[in-house]
Amino acid sequence: MASEDLFKKITAHAKEYGFIFPSSEIYDGLGAVYDYAQNGVELKNNIKNYWWDAMVKMNEEIVGLDSAIFMHPTVWKASGHLSAFNDPLIDNKDSKKRYRADVLIEDFRAKIEAKIDKEITKAKKRFGDSFDEEQFRATNQRVLANQKKIDELNKRFVAALESNDLEELKQIILDYDITDPVSGSRNWTDVRQFNLMFETKLGSVSEGANSIYLRPETAQGIFVNYLNVQKTGRMKLPFGIAQIGKAFRNEIVARQFIFRMREFEQMEMQFFVKPGEEMKWYEHWKETRIKWHKALGLGDEKYRFHDHDKLAHYANAAADIEFQFPFGFKELEGIHSRTDFDLSSHEKESGKKIRYYDNEAGESYVPYVVETSIGLDRMFLAVLSAAYSEETIKKDDGSTDSRVVLRIPPQLAPVKAAVLPLVRKDGLPEKAREIMNSLKFDFNCQYDEKDSIGKRYRRHDAIGTPFCLTIDHQTLEDNTVTLRYRDSMKQDRVPVDRLSEIIDGLVNFKNLLKKL
Ligand code: GAP
Repeated sequence: MASEDLFKKITAHAKEYGFIFPSSEIYDGLGAVYDYAQNGVELKNNIKNYWWDAMVKMNEEIVGLDSAIFMHPTVWKASGHLSAFNDPLIDNKDSKKRYRADVLIEDFRAKIEAKIDKEITKAKKRFGDSFDEEQFRATNQRVLANQKKIDELNKRFVAALESNDLEELKQIILDYDITDPVSGSRNWTDVRQFNLMFETKLGSVSEGANSIYLRPETAQGIFVNYLNVQKTGRMKLPFGIAQIGKAFRNEIVARQFIFRMREFEQMEMQFFVKPGEEMKWYEHWKETRIKWHKALGLGDEKYRFHDHDKLAHYANAAADIEFQFPFGFKELEGIHSRTDFDLSSHEKESGKKIRYYDNEAGESYVPYVVETSIGLDRMFLAVLSAAYSEETIKKDDGSTDSRVVLRIPPQLAPVKAAVLPLVRKDGLPEKAREIMNSLKFDFNCQYDEKDSIGKRYRRHDAIGTPFCLTIDHQTLEDNTVTLRYRDSMKQDRVPVDRLSEIIDGLVNFKNLLKKL
């Protein structure tokens, strides 16, 4: 299936099956803002729990925090967000569309990379097992010419980003003949900086009221609480503080569904270390985080690391974990070595000492920080897009049928078991309710008696329910039910007394956490 079609189908499926709705839909929605529906909120909570348990429950040296969204405005001066949290934007005068200049250039570069990949795929097919990719890249004239183009472009692009040279960014767009993706026009405005923070006023009267900002990252709530947590928790370096919460950015180009939103959620962990040890911990957290992702079984080949071309103002090393979304490999999580930038800046702006007294070394210093930062909504989209599957099923009579199934990792599935009386009579609903009432303390179950059993199975395949339990006349005789597995569609006859153990075996977070 073409990746664009797949993405459209996933977006439509998310709405039709109660995962995600556009915000304020009766008023035609609000750009890049979404609501999580009845199944979406369950999936989202399960992802949060997996992250929280992996961070806080599994690591004695990591504790949690839930800081406020509103913070003192000087926080954003200290963090550099007021002066440097900008995107370079450019408008097309003909289409009246607004773009991020850096994204236009990156997309152009990706097109040249795709040409090289195409040549390699073609050659691989032609030469079979004897194909040597390295040699091909070093000798094929078309590949060499395109690689040269990429290298030259990169050199100018990185230099322009590093020096914040907006004129040069525009010049690159003109020199490489980059056109408006919608209209094909080359009629561009100059490039301008655009601050991404949402501003509002504190107090009931706007006159004389202070400007405050909706936080653009949760990390600063952790930095300003570093001393409080360290002292009250008697924490020793290295230690971490983990937080899940909302963040807000006035994104210029807000598209691709929940990939880039204006209101979103982050799961961030700041790990405080002794200066000089940060690179060791940076490597440690890169490895730990990729393990967390791969344990879910969405496919190891769907992840890759990408080192940053341009380091943020606070970092001395940074890498993204990219995921293969239907629209290509894109950033899912960032791992950043943030030096002592944030704590030192807060020390300077607040006039308060923010240090750590190292008993062994007999000195105090500002700790260095390694951060892991993942977008919860992007993680949701990663799970949804890897799970979506359209399948053709061969029936016993030789005919075929089709189903859409979400192969969500069972631990994350919104509903763990569907409880289905075969018919709405003969005491079957009552027996089903009895089973439901015993399971609901441990698992999120759903009772469903409407429509044929086949239709109910399909409905639960479509929301990713790992187990369907069918209660029939035999159940009343021998206290067994038919248990149907979502992925294999296999059916087993099992005693009611064993249901809890069987469901738990597949959905318990323990299985995931033990892999880390
Ligand atoms: N504290 C560091 C920080 O905020 P970031 O790379 O700007 O770093 C971290 O953001 C993660 O937050 C990203 O990897 C992404 O998953 C998520 N994220 C950032 N902007 C987002 C947006 N507009 N919509 C959804 N998720 C976003």
